[in-house]
Order: sequence, then structure tokens, then C-alpha cells
Amino acid sequence: MCGIVGYIGDKSASSVLMEGLAKLEYRGYDSAGIALLESGKIEVERSVGKLINLREKLSDKKYSANVGIGHTRWATHGKPSFDNAHPHSSEGLTIVHNGIIENYIELKTMLKEKGFTFVSETDTEVVAHLIKSNFDGDLKSAVQKTVQHVIGSYGLAVLSEANPNEIIIARKDSPLVIGIGEGEMFAASDIPAVLSHTRKFIFMEDGDITVLRKDGYTITGIDGQPVDREVKLIDWNPVMAEKAGYSHFMQKEIYEQPRAIIDTIRGRYSLEDSRVNFADFEKIQSVVKDFSRVVIVACGTSWHAGLIAKFYIEKFAKIPVEVDIASEFRYRNLVIDEKTLFVAITQSGETADTLSALRIAKEHGAKVISVCNVVGSSISRESDSVIYTHAGPEIGVASTKAFTTQVISLFLFAIYLGQERGTMSSDEAGRYLGEVLKLPEVIEKVLEQDDNILKLAKQFKDASDFLYLGRNVNYPIALEGALKLKEISYIHAEGYPAGEMKHGPIALIDKDLPIFILCPKSSVYEKVASNVEEAKTRDGIIIAVVTEGDEGLKGICDHIIEIPDIIEELSVFPTVVVTQIFSYHVAHLLGLDVDQPRNLAKSVTVE
Ligand code: M6R
Repeated sequence: MCGIVGYIGDKSASSVLMEGLAKLEYRGYDSAGIALLESGKIEVERSVGKLINLREKLSDKKYSANVGIGHTRWATHGKPSFDNAHPHSSEGLTIVHNGIIENYIELKTMLKEKGFTFVSETDTEVVAHLIKSNFDGDLKSAVQKTVQHVIGSYGLAVLSEANPNEIIIARKDSPLVIGIGEGEMFAASDIPAVLSHTRKFIFMEDGDITVLRKDGYTITGIDGQPVDREVKLIDWNPVMAEKAGYSHFMQKEIYEQPRAIIDTIRGRYSLEDSRVNFADFEKIQSVVKDFSRVVIVACGTSWHAGLIAKFYIEKFAKIPVEVDIASEFRYRNLVIDEKTLFVAITQSGETADTLSALRIAKEHGAKVISVCNVVGSSISRESDSVIYTHAGPEIGVASTKAFTTQVISLFLFAIYLGQERGTMSSDEAGRYLGEVLKLPEVIEKVLEQDDNILKLAKQFKDASDFLYLGRNVNYPIALEGALKLKEISYIHAEGYPAGEMKHGPIALIDKDLPIFILCPKSSVYEKVASNVEEAKTRDGIIIAVVTEGDEGLKGICDHIIEIPDIIEELSVFPTVVVTQIFSYHVAHLLGLDVDQPRNLAKSVTVE
């Protein structure tokens, strides 16, 4: 997830762009850059790290340009570096891009054969050269031809010396809005970037290509035919705007999950041959059949993702999997060797305990894969291969979209292992991949239940304790639901395997204890249903999360939340989203700082 801004008008383009990028920094902050059309020539300024570095670089420069494009980056292809920072140029034109170009290797090979040279590791530079190779004086038609050959997602803004009176923008699966001013036009990947200049916006749709001029705009489809898009008036206040209309980053990130999952799986599966592929897997691919076990190590929410992955990997690849908490793993007598595949899961890539565990595993000869959201982070650099989760920056301290994108990455990874090791047939893999594609819609349907979940949050916000129960893949969700509630509402909550309740926690149950029971349709449904009965007999207040249409628990439970039907392995997605929304509302209703809960940090870089 990166941030894009474009401006054409009479104001100082560099000021409008820098102000816009500051509002988009939540979308990415590993590097930033702008391109200005200065006296007919494109001037590019870039810098690594946060926007402040670019601001300092520009402080002693005097640009008078009234046309320009800008970008703040969250790396997907190529580490955060000066060369990889946007804008990327091809003689006489320059572009900024948000998204992932899936066929960039194939396009790069073709462009190299035509004589283009590359200075970055990005997929974006390929698009810049492709536009150049299609350019015959008409920039819009060059962009149109280019996007017809691109597979993947893009929000694009293109500036050219030959066409100084226009900016071309294009969108597919990556947000882009047009801001309409008086004698000026704006482009942005999100409204807050230019809300101080205009309230009139058009939300571009997939396949739209727009020519922005000072005095107006023209939108066509990918086929060149004109299209009409509604102009909307946005009346957000500045605080609402920063969070795109949501009250908190956490809420926004919960709602981003359908999109984040699409970004995570993009380009990693093929339905034609039912296969999963990961880039940068050479070191693993050659030895994948040799592993005798998998050791997964992580902390907090990432550890919960690891517990779910154990089910996936053992089922699909038939390899024994151990899942350990990084701070515990470090101080044991480890039995690890070169036949061990070590998997570190971490959204930040900087968690000190996980990093140390990884180093120890390497010393023992293990091959290391990390599942990580931050390109260029310490853990990703020290791993043999990395599966990036492509969730975009997560600002809320409580992890939501980082977690679900970890889990779906690990699900694909388990299919990959099963196929490479010959324990999973193509038919089976194809069936599971088909189920994965249902997830965005399944999560959307859970999000539609927000109001129902809010009612429950209002009813239970003053409870002093909670119990979360689940079995099988939903046992880690019980842990995750309890952790989320603790983290942001400071209410004591315990997560337990439902079958373990009778061995102790059952003593806690009385008429004042709310119990979240995760009981979707599954191979253990009857078992969990018996646990519901046991809890109800002790007068516990049961809030059950069940598959829609399940009548079995309706008469017994105090409250029911229905989730869409999905296979057991993937039922963790709707169940966890229910618990995220519930925790969010409880904390918000209690007036707590949802995004920055007390005593917690987003990245724990100390032991
Ligand atoms: O960056 P990591 O995934 O390595 O972080 C691990 C934990 O610190 C993290 O998941 C923590 O538990 C979150 N606050 C959970 O919401």
C-alpha cells in the first residue's frame, strides 16, 4: 500500500504534493518522492525514510512548477532504498504507482530485449518503460496500451515532458480519486490528501483512465470509450478524513481486510494448474522435500497465526509442526538441524525475541522462512526466503489485518508444501484455492453485522472477565479474541480450548461471566456444542458464533452471531473478525485509546 498525489493548476505543485503526502504517510513511509514539471523539464526529488527527509531535501530548493506527482512508499518489490523510491522514470516521462504488477518479470525481459535499462528492483519501473515504448506523442493512448498488457493491480499517475498540460491517471484494484477544484485538478489514492483544497471527488473505478487538465478531466475505459462517473461531495472533518471516515485506525484496518486478503494472494496462485507459487523461494524449493519437521516461532498475535498454520501444514503436507513462543524458544536445549524448516511469523519484522530465535535456528543449520509485512525489516533480511503479507502499514497497535494476511499466507504456504512434497493432489489444491477466493465476500458479510456486534458490546462492556472458547482451528481464535479484548479494553479475558474447560476454567463460570464460544460448522461442532451445554448448565452467559442457518444452538445460547458458511479451515477468518469488531466497540464505548493502548508498542524491539 503506497500513497499517490497529483496536482495540475496554478499553485505551487511541490507544496500541494508535500501537504498531500503528509496526509498519506499512514499508507507507507519507507521512502518518498515527487516529480515536478519545471520549465518543461521533469525534476525528480526522492529520499529514503519518512517524509521529513524529503522535506529537508526540498527546503533549500526553489521550484515554481504548477504540475507534479508524488508518492510515499510501502515496499512490495525491492527493499526500501533510494533507487527503489518512486517516481520512476523512462526518458522524458515519470510515474508513481501503488499496487503489484504480477507479470513484471516477463515484461522486464521483453523491455530489456528492446534496449531499456533498469536502475531499480521495482515492478513500477517496468511500467514506466512500457509506457515509453508505447509512446508516440499521445500520452493517454500510451498509458491505455500499457495497462492492456499489465496483469495485477495499479493506481498510476504519469507525467510527461511532451504533454506538459496533463497528468494521466489509471486505476485497477488500487484506490484512486479525482479531486475537482476551480481551475485546478487533483489525484490521490485517498481523499484526505487533497481535502483541504476541494470537497468534490470522483471515485475512479477499475479500468478507468483519466486525463487531468487544469480546467477539467476526461475519463475513458480501458477500451478508450468515454465513461461517466458521479461527482460526490465529501463533508468529512479533518479528524475523520485522516482515518478515511472511520473513528480509529483499528476500525479502518478491520474494514480493510477483504482488500488486504486480495492483495496477499494476488499473483501467488493459479487456478489453471491449481498451483501456489512464491517469489524468492529458490533456496527453499530445492530442499523442500528434505525437511523432517517445521518449527514455527512468533510472539503475540503472530504466534496465534502460527498455531493455525500447524493445522494447515500437518493436514496438507503431513509434516510434524511445532509452534513456539519466541521468548520461550530461545532458552531451551534445542533439537534443531538442517532438516528443520524454521518459520518466523512477524508483522513488523523487528520483534527482538523472534529475531533472536531466528538467529539461533540458523546457527543450528535450519533453513529459515519468514512471514512478514515489512519489506527490508531485520527479520526479512536475515531469512532465506520471505512471504510478504502485503497488508500495507498497520497503524493500530492491536493487530487485525496483519493477522488475517499472515493466516492466508500460511494457508497458501501449506498448500505449496503439500504439492511440492506430493501429499496434496492438484484437485484438492484447486478445491481449497476456490474456497480462498470466497473469503473477501465472507468477511464483507461479517462486517455487515457491525451493528449487531455493537449491541452486544454495549451490553457487556462493563463485564470484568470474559472467557473465549474454541476447538481445532478456532482454538487459536479463542486466544486471539481474548488477547484483542485485553489489549485494548483492559478487561480480563482468557482463551481456552473448549474441551479443556472442564479441567479448570469451568470453576469460573457463573451468571455474570460472558463466554464467547466459536462454534461454526466443523468436524468438532458436536463437541463444542456439548461444551456450550456444560457452560450453560453453570449459568454462564453464552455468546455463540455459529454458521448461518444453524438452528442447533439457538435455544440454548443467550446471544447468537451468524457467520457465512465456509470450510472449517477458513472459518477462522469470519470468527476472528467478529472478535475484532467486538473488542473494538467495547474499548471505544469505554472511552479508551483504541489505537494506542496503554503499555503497548507496535513493534517490540526489546527482549
Ligand atoms: O511484529 P510482530 O508480529 O512480531 O509482533 C508480535 C506481537 O508483539 C504482536 O502481535 C502483539 O501481540 C500485538 N499487539 C497484537 O495485537
